[in-house]
Amino acid sequence: MTVRVPAKVNLQLSVGPPRADGYHDLVTVFHAVSLFDEVTVRPADRTRVLVTGDDVAGVPAGRANLAVRAARALATVGLRRRGRPAVQIEIRKRIPVAAGLAGGSADAAATLVACNELWKAGLTPAELREVAAKVGSDVPFALLGGTAIGQGRGEQLTAALAAGTYHWVLAFAPGGLSTPEVYAACDRLRAASPARAARVGGPAEPDAADGAVQPLPGLSTELMAALRSGDPAAVGPLLSNDLQPAAVSLRPDLRRALNAGQEHGALGAMVSGSGPTCAFLAANAAHARELAVALTGAGVCRSVVRVKGPAPGATVVMAESR
Ligand code: C5P
Repeated sequence: MTVRVPAKVNLQLSVGPPRADGYHDLVTVFHAVSLFDEVTVRPADRTRVLVTGDDVAGVPAGRANLAVRAARALATVGLRRRGRPAVQIEIRKRIPVAAGLAGGSADAAATLVACNELWKAGLTPAELREVAAKVGSDVPFALLGGTAIGQGRGEQLTAALAAGTYHWVLAFAPGGLSTPEVYAACDRLRAASPARAARVGGPAEPDAADGAVQPLPGLSTELMAALRSGDPAAVGPLLSNDLQPAAVSLRPDLRRALNAGQEHGALGAMVSGSGPTCAFLAANAAHARELAVALTGAGVCRSVVRVKGPAPGATVVMAESR
């Protein structure tokens, strides 16, 4: 069973203060883009993962791999009375690893859809989303795709009304960034500058414990209106990412990539999620081609790809008969 699954960027990522469980409440606008991994699951004697692709050294093997965790979680929930079948999970990776594009979450989502079909487990989309949320905060969105508002840890989704097609250039950086480290850097920057934190996170309210001003995340109504209009020129200036200062503090070279995109006429330029990939919004397909050439020429990134959004969520593309 083979499933295709998209990468995502966040058009808005508003991050609240850390919660007691270590996560951050957030309000985000997820947007799936046409950069896909493909995951094939086959019956096997024991569960294992094989990863192929250009740059897959950083992909964890065994239980540490989110796809393996997804298969186990589905077996536990969906096949309670039918044992724990093992699968070989083959991931053909095109979404770069630790890049802020939710590639690992995408592979987990694809594995859930593929195993649900292979095992005829019969989980509904809502039930699959529940299992997905346990595997990782971004996994439910990879099932859904399109453009959607995420709340809570990012796992509570509402489809967003968005018109049109958006043309993006993604600039990949050498190496990756660890998501927990970027969130921790965000907390440190805010602790060092509480006034700035309150501005960045939206409306502020006094924190009962220590009286400090804490940011609360809020959805940008301007961005939602721009998305309904389908006009990339309206959307571009409204892109925002609270994790960007943290990602740039850990990787100051990203500033050069963001500046180069802006100099070459990107309608919007931002770090994607926790980075280090930078995402640039173009006016149309021709503009995206120009921008991709300019960014490559500027030597500010490892490589670039052009993608379109919104893209569909995890979808079965092939079922081999046994
Ligand atoms: O949910 P997931 O395991 O993908 O999250 C990876 C890490 O990212 C978490 O362990 C946490 O450090 C950070 N995170 C967070 N707040 C969120 C989502 C993720 O702090 N809403």
